[in-house]
Amino acid sequence: MGLLDGKTALVTGAARGIGKAIALKFAAEGANVAFTDLAIDENAENTVKEIEALGVKAKGYASNAANFEDTAKVVAEVHKDFGRIDILVNNAGITRDGLMMRMTEQQWDMVINVNLKSAFNFIHACTPIMMRQKGGSIINMSSVVGVHGNAGQANYSASKAGMIGLAKSIAQELGSRGIRANAIAPGFIMTEMTDALSDEVKAEWAKKIPLRRGGTTEDVANIATFLASDMSAYVSGQVIQVDGGMNM
Ligand code: NAI
Repeated sequence: MGLLDGKTALVTGAARGIGKAIALKFAAEGANVAFTDLAIDENAENTVKEIEALGVKAKGYASNAANFEDTAKVVAEVHKDFGRIDILVNNAGITRDGLMMRMTEQQWDMVINVNLKSAFNFIHACTPIMMRQKGGSIINMSSVVGVHGNAGQANYSASKAGMIGLAKSIAQELGSRGIRANAIAPGFIMTEMTDALSDEVKAEWAKKIPLRRGGTTEDVANIATFLASDMSAYVSGQVIQVDGGMNM
């Protein structure tokens, strides 16, 4: 018996990184998994195969999460292919860092659209389905910098703070329909996104982490599994920091 037997999950931006780890963990717990990414290339096809190897149904869909029409289309396709959507993980995200003085309008718009508008797009398309099913669990991928802010990441921090407000509002609006919404705020997680940071920046981060290590994608996937499953049936509107006890 898996924690997610019989459930269907939709994870955005899951060809690699944290999203992929969540997709694999959900599958290991018995969920069928649909995921999106910008392109379903060889890497994404390998992710599909890895998920399928766990004995569940899996499919990858090419879609730009920042695009409203694209999202409506892909959610309709997933619903047709899988028959239901019980869990939505709004994971797709990017960084375009820079100090406010030098930040361009394009840097601001890209990050807000990919990180925050995408979650609106998917929640807008998935909640009618969840309402008809009389239940669902929505998980927004925020960040510790969405809670605390971070110099040089005004656009990213604002988008991630927005993910928290969005989850809390949906929790209040749709709780009576059996839909839960929560946010995960990871700290420093070792993925391709953080690999791109300089050694100096990485060393600075490490000093702030009482558990003295960067997080793994599995650390985040475990909390996502808790929030997706009925283990958290009475948890909604919350933010769980997965950050090794980080002091910002
Ligand atoms: P990653 O860069 O390894 O993976 C992100 C995935 O999202 C990629 O596969 C990418 O192609 C996809 N993606 C990007 N734009 C997209 C779009 N418009 N539509 C669909 N897919 C798109 O990043 P990582 O580290 O796995 O991060 C996943 C989420 O976790 C992001 O939202 C990130 O902001 C958040 N996060 C990551 C932390 C870390 O330390 N790595 C810390 C806190 C939050």
